[in-house]
Amino acid sequence: MTEQTGARSVLITGGNRGIGLAIARSFLANRDKVAVTYRTKTELPDGILGVQADVTDAASIDAAFKTVEAAHGPVEVLVPNAGITKDTLLMRMSEDDFTSVIDTNLTGAFRVVQRATKGMMKLRKGRIVLISSVSGIYGAPGQVNYSASKAGLIGIARSITRELGGRGITANVIMPGIVLTEMFGEVSEEMKAKYLAGIPAGRFSSPEEIADVVRWLASDEAAYISGALIPVDGGGSMGH
Ligand SMILES: NC(=O)c1ccc[n+]([C@@H]2O[C@H](COP(=O)([O-])OP(=O)(O)OC[C@H]3O[C@@H](n4cnc5c(N)ncnc54)[C@H](OP(=O)(O)O)[C@@H]3O)[C@@H](O)[C@H]2O)c1
Repeated sequence: MTEQTGARSVLITGGNRGIGLAIARSFLANRDKVAVTYRTKTELPDGILGVQADVTDAASIDAAFKTVEAAHGPVEVLVPNAGITKDTLLMRMSEDDFTSVIDTNLTGAFRVVQRATKGMMKLRKGRIVLISSVSGIYGAPGQVNYSASKAGLIGIARSITRELGGRGITANVIMPGIVLTEMFGEVSEEMKAKYLAGIPAGRFSSPEEIADVVRWLASDEAAYISGALIPVDGGGSMGH
């Protein structure tokens, strides 16, 4: 494998915990210059720049980008990872349950992607790796809001690929299955057993297994992959 020399400015939203933090550590190990956004005060490993931002607030995103650009240069690798769930069955889902999840997971990704591509177009290179979910293509009971938000990321990646593919920018979508983080901690034991039964690998994923694929998609080796949906799910969504 060709290792990156590690001079790139990398930004991960929601990188203070869970999958985002594992992604940050992976790029750091690759000697990249890594920044993450966080909302609440947090401890970060040495070498990772934390910038406060809420992806539902365009002004805070712009301020975070300015800080990262001043410290590390224009963002060359962007990982829109910040996400929330508000699971409930359709009949009980309020309009706010729907729009707040869309605002964070989908419009939030749009906000950071739009801000980052300004710099990427000047650089004439860039890598965008959007963190979706198998729920975006497979669907899940209680996740009409979340599935819609994650499916929307596919449209973002594919339209960016068509708009900006000629400028050295790639945009891809990772679809994790079930990853052992705080987000999954909210799922009942009964549901966990049900999910596990549908995974050929017979286990859930670690955050690091997602992070490694993200880092590879942002590497030179993946320069000709764009607009792709990459499931990282132990085979759980095969055929969809
Ligand atoms: N875990 C899974 O099984 C799984 C499966 C498929 C896809 N995913 C996706 O993977 C991504 C990361 O999930 P995770 O499991 O690592 O979740 P997590 O542990 O709950 O972490 C979520 C991250 O998103 C941040 N965030 C949430 N709302 C935000 C906002 N408005 N502005 C800025 N940051 C915000 C959180 O920041 P704070 O700490 O400040 O709240 C946190 O850093 C999500 O997009 C999720 O949908 C997860």
